[in-house]
Amino acid sequence: MTVISQIKSLFFGSIFLTAGFASLPFAAFGLIFKGRPFDIFNKSKLSEANFTFLWSIVGRPSAADEKLTNKTISQAYGVVLDLGPGTGFTVHHFDKSKVTKVFGIEPNKGFHPALQAAIDAAGLTDIYTIVGTGVEDSETLKKFGIEEGSADTIVACKVLCSIPDPKATIAELYKLLAPGGQFLVLEHIKAKGGIGAIAQRLANMIWPFLMAGCELCRPTEAYLYGAGEWEVKDLQYPEGISGNEFITFTQGKLIKAR
Ligand SMILES: C[S@@+](CC[C@H](N)C(=O)[O-])C[C@H]1O[C@@H](n2cnc3c(N)ncnc32)[C@H](O)[C@@H]1O
Repeated sequence: MTVISQIKSLFFGSIFLTAGFASLPFAAFGLIFKGRPFDIFNKSKLSEANFTFLWSIVGRPSAADEKLTNKTISQAYGVVLDLGPGTGFTVHHFDKSKVTKVFGIEPNKGFHPALQAAIDAAGLTDIYTIVGTGVEDSETLKKFGIEEGSADTIVACKVLCSIPDPKATIAELYKLLAPGGQFLVLEHIKAKGGIGAIAQRLANMIWPFLMAGCELCRPTEAYLYGAGEWEVKDLQYPEGISGNEFITFTQGKLIKAR
């Protein structure tokens, strides 16, 4: 079972990596088409354009992804910070009877039109606000009333792999939670060992460029556990995941000490 899940993950990871290379010409043409030809020579702008193109196509969740994501996001309640919602593939999982306000903190403006369409389709228009900045930009967040102790729920779904200075940024996110507030997590993380750990180290030489800064080898659970005092710390490998896969996940929740 463990070996099969490692091989499967390596297979799908290789497809994703290949797609990352294959999308580069489309991203470059896209930049030319938008009248930004010189951005092709800017590494971070080309990287962002590449991931924007790629994620819109291959980021669409499978039935298995939908089940995992629903388990996480449907638990959100109250005032929610939805970190890096991207094109909005996941926003329909919010339970409208439990959430009062959602801030989708998404720095990539190329995703905003699709995100807004997904928000509208999910019937969340009145309560979901897109905040066009990174989670580390506390000054802008404050302008939206997002400050210490203001959030009941933080949702991190495949985003902590991409934020800058993750240890410090996650510690800042901890402060935004109200006492007793919950941090809901579904993140891909550094593999414990096996083929996955080796493949991650090799692929990570190019992966962050192809995927707009996404890092494969982040010990995100350690950053979350170390961010502050928690009364519940419950992150697990989802069913069928051993921790040795190329793309391996942690899922669960942390509740901030009261
Ligand atoms: C792999 S995508 C996941 C999108 C969405 N959460 C999902 O599961 O479909 C990662 C997202 O994180 C966003 N992101 C990257 N850096 C970020 C930052 N500093 N703050 C907030 N979001 C960020 C990206 O723009 C992208 O939308």
